[in-house]
Amino acid sequence: MAFSTFWISLFLILFAVTGSFSAEESESNEFVVTLDHSNFTDFVAKHKFIVVEFYAPWCGHCKKLAPEYEKAASILSKNDPPVFLAKFDANNEQNKAIANEFEIRGYPTLKILRYGGSVVQEYKGPRDADGIVTYLKKQSGPASIEIKSPEDASSLIGDDKIFVVGVFPEFSGEKFENFMTLAERLRADYDFGHTSDGKFLPRGDSSAAGPLVRLFKPFDELFVDFQEFDVDALVKFVEEASTPIVTLFNKDPRHHPFVIKYFGSSNAKAMLFLNFTAEEKFDAFNSKYHEVAVLYKGKDLSFLMGDIEASQGAFQYFGIKEEQVPLIIIQTNDGQKYLKPNVEPDQIASWVKDFKDGIVQPYKKSEPIPEVNNEPVKVVVADNLEDMVFNSGKNVLLEFYAPWCGHCKKLAPILDEVALSFENDADVIIAKIDATANNIPQQSFDVKGYPTLYFRSATGKLLQYDGDRSKQAIIDFIQKNRDSVSEQDSSRKDEL
Ligand SMILES: *[C@@H]1O[C@H](CO)[C@@H](O)[C@H](O)[C@H]1NC(C)=O
Ligand SMILES: *[C@@H]1O[C@H](CO)[C@@H](O)[C@H](O)[C@H]1NC(C)=O
Repeated sequence: MAFSTFWISLFLILFAVTGSFSAEESESNEFVVTLDHSNFTDFVAKHKFIVVEFYAPWCGHCKKLAPEYEKAASILSKNDPPVFLAKFDANNEQNKAIANEFEIRGYPTLKILRYGGSVVQEYKGPRDADGIVTYLKKQSGPASIEIKSPEDASSLIGDDKIFVVGVFPEFSGEKFENFMTLAERLRADYDFGHTSDGKFLPRGDSSAAGPLVRLFKPFDELFVDFQEFDVDALVKFVEEASTPIVTLFNKDPRHHPFVIKYFGSSNAKAMLFLNFTAEEKFDAFNSKYHEVAVLYKGKDLSFLMGDIEASQGAFQYFGIKEEQVPLIIIQTNDGQKYLKPNVEPDQIASWVKDFKDGIVQPYKKSEPIPEVNNEPVKVVVADNLEDMVFNSGKNVLLEFYAPWCGHCKKLAPILDEVALSFENDADVIIAKIDATANNIPQQSFDVKGYPTLYFRSATGKLLQYDGDRSKQAIIDFIQKNRDSVSEQDSSRKDEL
């Protein structure tokens, strides 16, 4: 779970740089229902289907979402039956117990609550008003749609997405029920239909009488049939058959759902970055990379090929330079990176094999240790992180930032003030590390976005700071959680 959250956030970071939002403010908040700790449970219990946005008042992405969410709520209030959109301030002290129950780790997080809250589903739709409406209309309707004609089939299935169809001679019995359970379980990610007549379906053997499950996809072999009806086997089939051998990452939005899926997988990730338009050997790269991907299918390694035109976010995230392209990066789930810059098509297979054999050394990135470090906010790099944070015996607040991140720039003067207020306190260090230029030990720090703040107390308590990004709130947090350095009195620790 933690891994997949990390990768999804990574995806959001990669896209955040190029993504755009319309940010018109709207003052009227009539249709979005406000919930808090006093009425959340009752309100949810009364509804078969509601959407809740968990937000924080200071969060910029929440502010951008607000007018779109409100517009969607107004449209969906006229739906039959109406769909309710609610919001919940997850940052409010009194609301935090509920937010924790829902494991809210970033803002905004949207969840669909079904059947009085007994089924909780991630919202995985778009964040513009029309996109929200379309996605929620579908999510609040039946999980699988009956296909009654070839026209139904062609309008539903299309050429650019995954669609799963069950062919059943009759809509009853265990196999059919299991298919419906599958559809209910995976409806957030895939579209489902069922039909009694295989002849309605495009592609494949049209005389298929069923029972049969056919998965249509816009890549590789275009469709796959499956005839086991155990629910778990069906889930596994859909997950595997819908994953491209090589995921393409370029500016074409039709690829984005597959990119999200790629980053959501628990596999290690191999990424080949090229300039798609300029690379003379594009075809050679494409075919060699595919061959390797086929070779490692089902072996815990997923493959993506990215156009550098669309990958500025990735470049900044990984600290890659354009002169290193064509380049392969493999990132494993423990956060290690392996790098092959200026790769040739014929070197791909042997390098990936070396990686699998454990011969390739991980790529360790550190800025040089600064010679002078006398600003109020101290500079930490990968090579002195151990000394300054873990072994200093001090109370350290450490900011993980990226040079391009706007929220980090906003926080910088505030951190300066915090640091100044502790200037005469030798037991407290305020520090920052450029997370794009230094390796971050992921076993200690879960850095899903920027800025991320961690606090390590003198005796080794490690806490993530997710409070208000104001001077006073940060100072209060440090004062509350710091340990005394001079006398490490264990009885005092017990009280905390
Ligand atoms: C829940 O309580 C808050 C605070 O009292 C109020 O603003 C909101 O309208 C209430 N929501 C509902 C659905 O009753
Ligand atoms: C990719 O190649 C095209 C065509 O040569 C060029 O115009 C573009 O600047 C290149 N992109 C990058 C990011 O280098």
